[in-house]
Amino acid sequence: MEDKDWETFKQKLKQKTEIDLNLYKEAQMKRRILNLVQRSPHKTFVAYFDAVSKTKEEFAEFIEYLTINVSEFFRNADKFSKLETEIIPNLMKTSPRLSIWSAGCSIGAEPYSLAIMMKELTPSTRHRILATDLDVEILAKARRGVYAENEIKAVTKDRLQKYFTPAPEGKFAIKPDIKSMIEFRRHNLLKDRFETGFDLILCRNVVIYFTEEAKTQLYTNFFNSLKPGGILFVGATEAILNYRKLGYVSSQPFFYEKPKTNPETKK
Ligand SMILES: C[S@@+](CC[C@H](N)C(=O)[O-])C[C@H]1O[C@@H](n2cnc3c(N)ncnc32)[C@H](O)[C@@H]1O
Repeated sequence: MEDKDWETFKQKLKQKTEIDLNLYKEAQMKRRILNLVQRSPHKTFVAYFDAVSKTKEEFAEFIEYLTINVSEFFRNADKFSKLETEIIPNLMKTSPRLSIWSAGCSIGAEPYSLAIMMKELTPSTRHRILATDLDVEILAKARRGVYAENEIKAVTKDRLQKYFTPAPEGKFAIKPDIKSMIEFRRHNLLKDRFETGFDLILCRNVVIYFTEEAKTQLYTNFFNSLKPGGILFVGATEAILNYRKLGYVSSQPFFYEKPKTNPETKK
């Protein structure tokens, strides 16, 4: 009975949102959702789903819980400074106008951090920064660009003054010139087509609940999306153990390079 309920729940979710839970780690996702169901007045996954589907706000909250949108500016500051002092200057030697993709960008803190960094490194060059996420509500928040104090705690005072303006309720709004550097778009990393030609792809703290097969497919797709010499930057707990098998080389943890001289396209 419970299995059938779970299967029907997954089907309904996929129909409504295109989120396919079969590509996520079953035990963890089921436990997370069961936790929600048990705290609700509903007895089954399907009854819970049908109830939250009735109101837009409740459904948005449910999707937010499911996709885990927590993020902040300059998350893992030491890695961002590696990006700023080594990785990006290196990439710009061969590609003066970079094409960058923040995949699973959540509230926009990651692409805006990148935009701030690129503006400081090369004030008069227009780079391309694409920022995508599965969750449309979170993309709306990213486009608004208004942040609470805990989301900007790693932003220096100087940067806060330069790139943000005070907003109501003690919040801070990103300035329009930084906003205009980013193209936000909905994209499902487990389903949609991947663009190509990127110098740098960031995919951090997104794959935590993906199955091993889904991760391998994702990292292969990123490989094909990168230019030769391009870099994939992953989260601080997401080292890719089989990176060599996927075709990457790595000179330092969490940054993986598509070799410059490898003409072979992985399938
Ligand atoms: C924890 S946030 C990470 C945000 C940012 N990259 C960071 O490291 O702070 C994870 C994001 O991944 C998104 N996500 C989850 N599954 C996804 C998928 N299949 N395709 C695209 N985005 C997905 C979620 O909606 C969420 O906004």
